[in-house]
Amino acid sequence: MLQIKNLHAKIEDGAEILKGINLEIKPGEVHAIMGPNGAGKSTLSSVISGKDEYEVTEGEIIFEGENINEDKPEDRAHKGIFMSFQYPVEIPGVTVTNFIKAALNETRKANGLEDMPAKEMLALVRENSAKLDIKKDFLARSLNEGFSGGEKKRNEIFQMLMLNPKLAILDETDSGLDIDALRIVADGVNSFRNEGNAVLLITHYQRLLDYIKPDFVHVLADGKIIKTGDASLALELEEKGYDWLLK
Ligand SMILES: Nc1ncnc2c1ncn2[C@@H]1O[C@H](COP(=O)(O)OP(=O)(O)OP(=O)(O)O)[C@@H](O)[C@H]1O
Ligand SMILES: [Mg+2]
Repeated sequence: MLQIKNLHAKIEDGAEILKGINLEIKPGEVHAIMGPNGAGKSTLSSVISGKDEYEVTEGEIIFEGENINEDKPEDRAHKGIFMSFQYPVEIPGVTVTNFIKAALNETRKANGLEDMPAKEMLALVRENSAKLDIKKDFLARSLNEGFSGGEKKRNEIFQMLMLNPKLAILDETDSGLDIDALRIVADGVNSFRNEGNAVLLITHYQRLLDYIKPDFVHVLADGKIIKTGDASLALELEEKGYDWLLK
């Protein structure tokens, strides 16, 4: 589904941050990326989703067999790449439901589909909000306005379930997840997972990986993947830290 080959990226006029990343994600897989602060984890997710503050200087990002290096973020989203926002924007006057309806229909339009019929949309909102225990009054609130950390998380996972992307990239790095939020993310991801989609999960929390069993764990340090293992690698990191890998 996603192949990253020798990816190098930098900030405009800045130093190189990603220094040759290789990664392959197949349908049905969950990959976790861990690693020290400042390693380039968030940068990697931003580069995959196409944020324009970063410039790819070498290498390729291939999604479903197609090089997407030059695609705009919205094109990537329409192709089925979802990324959660570490710092979600507030949109006063636009409700949680209306925002996601618009986003979903936007994606359908880009793929040559008509708007989702209102009845179908309503059923989908009901189904997914029930999964995440989201109440009606929450759906009617202005997007992200005054949301608590947990509410932001819940909304983010709700967006993921609604948009039903092929690849979901979740950056949990700086969000200060408490136990409730951890569960929301874990339950959401587990109900999302299927044979046809994939998840790239960035986390510092070994505990999150107790709930979401990753197929692969990668350690990113100084812009490179320096180790790849299975779920047991996360436990080893928890115990030993990163120092033993950095020498
Ligand atoms: N837009 C930017 N402008 C300036 N420096 C940046 C920018 N984005 C990333 N960097 C730098 O690139 C490096 C990697 O940052 P990044 O946010 O990807 O790290 P991270 O692995 O996600 O860290 P953390 O675990 O703390 O979330 C850091 O040194 C950071 O300061
Ligand atoms: Mg980060």
